[in-house]
Formats: sequence, C-alpha cells, structure tokens
Amino acid sequence: MEFKEAMARRHSVRAFSDKPVSEALLDQLLTTATSAPSWSNTQPYQIAVARGEVLEDLRETLPPMFDDLVSLARGSKLKQIKAKLTNEGLPDGDFRPVTDYPKDLQPRRNATGHQLYELLGIERGDKLGRHQQMRENFRFFNAPVALFIFVHEGLDVYSPLDAGIFLQSLMLAATDAGLGTCAQGALALWRSPLEKHFDIPENYKLLCGLSLGYEAENETINTFRPERQPLESLLVPGKQGRGGL
Ligand SMILES: Cc1cc2nc3c(=O)[nH]c(=O)nc-3n(C[C@H](O)[C@H](O)[C@H](O)COP(=O)(O)O)c2cc1C
Repeated sequence: MEFKEAMARRHSVRAFSDKPVSEALLDQLLTTATSAPSWSNTQPYQIAVARGEVLEDLRETLPPMFDDLVSLARGSKLKQIKAKLTNEGLPDGDFRPVTDYPKDLQPRRNATGHQLYELLGIERGDKLGRHQQMRENFRFFNAPVALFIFVHEGLDVYSPLDAGIFLQSLMLAATDAGLGTCAQGALALWRSPLEKHFDIPENYKLLCGLSLGYEAENETINTFRPERQPLESLLVPGKQGRGGL
C-alpha cells in the first residue's frame, strides 16, 4: 500500500470481527513499528500484549468497573466523598484522566461526539445509549488483541511523544496489512487489572491502550470519519501574514 493510501485508510475501528490475528503477524507489525524515531533512540516505552485468556479476563473485569464509576459519578455527593477518601471504585491509572477540557478544545471534542452519536442514532438525552457505546471501549470493541502502552517516567513529556510516534507507526503498519486499530485513552483508567497479568516495571506508566484486529463488516460505527480542523487553524499566526508558510 502506498503511504498516502495507508494514511487515508487508517481510521479508528470500533467494531472488530472475530477473525483472529496470528502471533507472527502481530510480531511483524510491532517489529515494523520499532523503526519509529525516539528521543536519543531510547524507545522509552513498553507494550503489554493481551490476547486469549488474558484478554477475555480483562473484557470481563473492566466493563463492570466502568459501570460502577459512572454510577458513582451520577450518584450521591456523600458516596463520592467516601470514594475520594478511600479511593474505592476510582480509577487507579497513572495519569489523571482529562475531564475538564480547555475552552478552545471543548468545541472540537463536542463536534466529534455529536457527529458520532448522530451517525449511530443516539439522541442527546439518551444517557443509556451513550453509556453503552462508551462501555464498548472496555470490551475492546470485540478485538482479538489489545495492547497497553507504558511510558518511562524519566523522560518527562518525551516518553509519551515517542510512544505516540510508535503508535501511529503501528497503526499504519496494521492498516497496510489490512487490519484495523483504535487508540484508546479510556484504557488508561485502570492499571490494577493489568498488574494481575503482567510484570509491569514500576517506572513505566500506563499511557493508553490500543485495540487491534480485523474490522467487522457492515458496521455503521466503522464508517465514522470525523472532520479535521482546517490547516489554517493549526498554524501559529506569523507577525506578518500567514504563520510559518
Ligand atoms: C491518544 C488517543 C486516545 C484515544 N482514545 C479513544 C478512546 O478512549 N475511545 C475511542 O473510541 N477513541 C479514542 N481515540 C480515537 C479518536 O477519537 C480518533 O482518533 C479521532 O476521533 C479521529 O478519528 P480517526 O482515528 O477515525 O481518524 C483516541 C485516539 C488517540 C490518538
């Protein structure tokens, strides 16, 4: 596949088929992605690969944790205070989840959310419909493989930057091989269920997850192609005229 075609074809897949991904293919995709550049070539990330029984265990464990978190957020103030004091039921991920979006980014987030729910026919006030859609994140959208990306705590922002470059390389390699992916910040909410299955070095912090597999056919959700900002709005304005160009 040509580079431009792979770039254009890659999109977030949120419904995977049952078709398995062979270990050899997964190995090949990850190996391709290791050619990604990184700060002083340190490759400051670690990847936990969940498939088979491990993945099924996580697929059972995570959705109820998400349900409980949502009911807590919608429940009484007293319960919320208790949870804050005991940490019970709260996410135990390494990075604080983004809940308050900056004013200038909130409209972009809203537009993407509205476009998605509109496509799926989920009405604005349909809390259950939205919840169920969000919950699919924790079922890995039925993917046969989930990856969890951890970043070294010692390189500040450069570890997540390098991991991001690695992730995009991996997603493009997967696209090239006819597979689909979805990067998932949602999968960084809880670290503890992963500790049960993996020996994660303490100095590596859970950044995000990635579901990977073959795209399910005829699923409306997989036709979602959220609009991008016009290039102009991403360019820093120059003192004289158009920024940078
Ligand atoms: C770091 C990162 C985290 C993301 N987290 C989620 C997520 O938790 N759930 C989800 O459905 N999509 C998630 N996405 C996918 C984005 O929503 C998606 O990339 C964006 O809307 C653009 O759509 P496209 O990937 O189809 O081009 C994430 C993407 C990135 C890069």
